[in-house]
Amino acid sequence: MTYSTYPPGFRRDAQGRATFGGALIEDLVRQAGTGTPAYLYDLDGLRSAAESLEKSFGPAPHLIAYAVKANSAGSVVRALARAGTGADVVSGAELELVLAAGIPPSSVVMSGVAKADWELDLALAKTIFAIQVESVEELERVAARARTVGKSARVALRLNPGVKADTHAHIATGHDDAKFGIARPDVARAWAVIDREPSLSGVGVSAHVGSMLRDPEPYLAAARVVAEAAKARHDAGHRLEYVDFGGGFGIDYGGAPAAEPAAFVQAALGLLAEHGLSSQKLVIEPGRSLVAPFGVVVSTVIQSKRASERRWVMMDAGMNDLLRPALYGAKHRIEPLDRAPGGAEWRVVGPVCESTDDFGTHPLGDEPCEKVVIRDAGAYGFVMASEYNGRPLPAEVFVEGGKVVKTSVAPGRDDWVRRRLGA
Ligand code: LLP
Repeated sequence: MTYSTYPPGFRRDAQGRATFGGALIEDLVRQAGTGTPAYLYDLDGLRSAAESLEKSFGPAPHLIAYAVKANSAGSVVRALARAGTGADVVSGAELELVLAAGIPPSSVVMSGVAKADWELDLALAKTIFAIQVESVEELERVAARARTVGKSARVALRLNPGVKADTHAHIATGHDDAKFGIARPDVARAWAVIDREPSLSGVGVSAHVGSMLRDPEPYLAAARVVAEAAKARHDAGHRLEYVDFGGGFGIDYGGAPAAEPAAFVQAALGLLAEHGLSSQKLVIEPGRSLVAPFGVVVSTVIQSKRASERRWVMMDAGMNDLLRPALYGAKHRIEPLDRAPGGAEWRVVGPVCESTDDFGTHPLGDEPCEKVVIRDAGAYGFVMASEYNGRPLPAEVFVEGGKVVKTSVAPGRDDWVRRRLGA
């Protein structure tokens, strides 16, 4: 089997063996030589996802500001940048990363409720596309920093749209009780600060309603609030450069389908047209949808046990490697590497001494398997990993053209012992 035989992403070959990015996962892991647990990323897959999202805008002015927090690996950011994406960053470190990875400052927006002075200064020094401010108080602080360095700050208002998204409470960000964004009654006050401060230039309006949205409805509800605010600003005689409807497009983790990102884009473009805003640049901030399906974790089964009615599999990947199940009750499909899933159900857990280090029940078959693959782990995976329980960060392996093109191995056990002894 060759690379050209398979489209990107996760697939099974005719014998039921797991392939990823066009090659047998088994071979990729051997080629990489990193051991497990290891994240594998399909760079072709994520690049083609970004390219097809780019196309979905047609001739409309736009910027895909990839939410770097979802996966900040340099190879991932560079692959997306090659497909034309910009970035949404939420820290000074992320800003430095994307600029060094080749994304131009004019394609970068910065979000976040608590940007430190040095982070604002960095954004000002690099003249990024916009600092998206989340409170009137922050706006005053940006103005003061800009005055100090004698620059005009390009700012956008991030609104709290007051919309409840139908998603996990931990990842809903656009409702009235969320810490994010400027409350609607305060928007006029925010524009007034911009109008009186020569060091501020108001260039846009944004919102982000939450993550893992399965259909465009809540996205559109938040987008409507943004579009109305932008229109009101235009009607008051001020020109804006862009509106930003945020990210949040869901993916199918194997349980329930989600609308394609292109469907969100089409709906957003329709909404702009309705508001007479078609000439505005439309910014979106997708994270998960661009990278989640193009990452998997490969893990070795360390121990299996049968206790009364239950079959347990204990693997070497745990909540320290992939936190989503423990933190959100998320279910990622876990499958054998060497055969298609099916047959007996096994409860799959990690090695960490916490009951929430539990990945749920999966059809691994009648006999225990040696290695498993955890699917759809390309977003909010490695970036949320920790060294809890003295476990080194997992390896990362990058696949392109059906081959391993790069590996990244975190410092191992000895390094951990040395650092903790030195603390
Ligand atoms: N823009 C802003 C301002 C955000 O806060 C986020 C995500 C995004 C864009 C990207 O959202 P996405 O397209 O990835 O849904 N760790 C959680 C998700 C946290 C999302 C945080 N903000 C998870 O694993 O489900």
